[in-house]
Amino acid sequence: MQGKARTVAMTTQPKTAPKTKRSKTVTLKDNQTDQSWSFPVLEGATGPDVVDIRKFYSETGMFTYDPGFTSTGSCDSKITYIDGGKGILLHRGYPIEDLAEKCNFEEVAYLMLNGELPNSSQKRQFEHDITYHSMLHEQFHNFYSGFRRDGHPMAIMCGVVGALSAFYHDSLDINNPEHRMVSSYRLIAKMPTIAAWAFKYSLGQPFIYPRNDLGYAENFLHMMFATPCESYKVSPTLAKAMDRILILHADHEQNASTSTVRLAGSSGANPFACIAAGIASLWGPAHGGANEAVLTMLNEIGNKNHIPEFVKRAKDKDDPFRLMGFGHRVYKNYDPRARIMSRPCHEVLEELGIKNNPLLDIAMELERIALEDDYFIEKKLYPNVDFYSGIIFQAMGIPVTMFTALFALARTTGWIAQWQEMIGDPLQKIGRPRQLYTGETKRKFLTLEQRT
Ligand code: CMC
Repeated sequence: MQGKARTVAMTTQPKTAPKTKRSKTVTLKDNQTDQSWSFPVLEGATGPDVVDIRKFYSETGMFTYDPGFTSTGSCDSKITYIDGGKGILLHRGYPIEDLAEKCNFEEVAYLMLNGELPNSSQKRQFEHDITYHSMLHEQFHNFYSGFRRDGHPMAIMCGVVGALSAFYHDSLDINNPEHRMVSSYRLIAKMPTIAAWAFKYSLGQPFIYPRNDLGYAENFLHMMFATPCESYKVSPTLAKAMDRILILHADHEQNASTSTVRLAGSSGANPFACIAAGIASLWGPAHGGANEAVLTMLNEIGNKNHIPEFVKRAKDKDDPFRLMGFGHRVYKNYDPRARIMSRPCHEVLEELGIKNNPLLDIAMELERIALEDDYFIEKKLYPNVDFYSGIIFQAMGIPVTMFTALFALARTTGWIAQWQEMIGDPLQKIGRPRQLYTGETKRKFLTLEQRT
């Protein structure tokens, strides 16, 4: 372990149960038996009310059915609020626009974990504590060398992050707040090192150690691009752009990977194992893997003239092709993160002297055509956070296969804050969904000879 584990004020938010909306109930009636049941309606701080169905099964003998959780709240949370209709994203009440413009990533990480923005001494202390956990155990060299050089960085991330639990036994007790805090800091601190080393390993270059005099985003770029052969100065513009991108990806309430982390954690699994599960869930192209898929799609389109053909395919029910980087389960308006992304995108291209970026041209034209198309208008499909991020990453020299690893590194903050919130919740139970069984009912066993 690097640095000393210290106690830092990371308060678990006092648990206040959601309010019951003044005697509002929802009544369900069985039209065959005429029996009816009432369920209380709970009111959050803002956003839709929820029907409290915790006693649904014991009272009705039925389950609810909601594949994909399109209408189901799985927990109450104080961390992130999204109004998908209006395109609003708040972390601990602060608009994402303000956080991306006025904070660095470390301040946002502190906010996620503690509920409040840090004052200057809290900020200094937090940055120090994160910095001093950024090294990996030396034996990880052996671990990396067990992977093929062409292994996908997300495969390496799943493996290495899960393996942290085999190295840091002194912080695995989830019932001990000090252990939880040290593990949280370790995960946030080590993730840039783990991701950068996955990249270095694919190149066959020596691993670059973290530097304690650099900020979080700057240190990540340093570990990605420095070599021992020459001095390397991280461009402040690129570091600032990376910092903004990390903020934009830091948390997004109960999405697939966050829910995976919570579900894994609900069984009492250690935080390193839970975050490894989150990384696996993020990898899919419908989720964090979309940033990689966008670049692949833009390259496949290759030329603005081919855009109508791809838009036509995206609208064809018989073609599985979708416009990657478009659409969102919650946003039925422009994803505010995609809007903010245009600033770092232009800053990076300008800093790197890239006057013409053919992929950016294709992306902008694709967005224009799609946003004027009835299909996308009717279904409220807008660019999401992944639509432009890949273009920035590629301009920075980051290979396409690393894109989702970057998302994972940023999202670790949100995952760990959500995991902390869940563990601190006295109402927390193991997550155990039920099902609508549609298979065979009990039948007579057939011996091998009887089977035709
Ligand atoms: N291109 C074409 N049609 C689409 C698209 C798209 N990108 N997205 C949704 N649709 C259509 C879909 O076919 C469906 O049509 P219909 O009602 O006729 O069956 C309708 O829009 C609703 O789509 P859905 O799949 O039921 O919606 P969902 O909420 O389950 O899925 C989504 C959301 C993000 C998985 C989906 O929009 C998608 O696959 N987008 C492309 C992948 C992507 O960009 N993912 C990144 C999401 S943002 C970052 C993150 O969460 O990690």
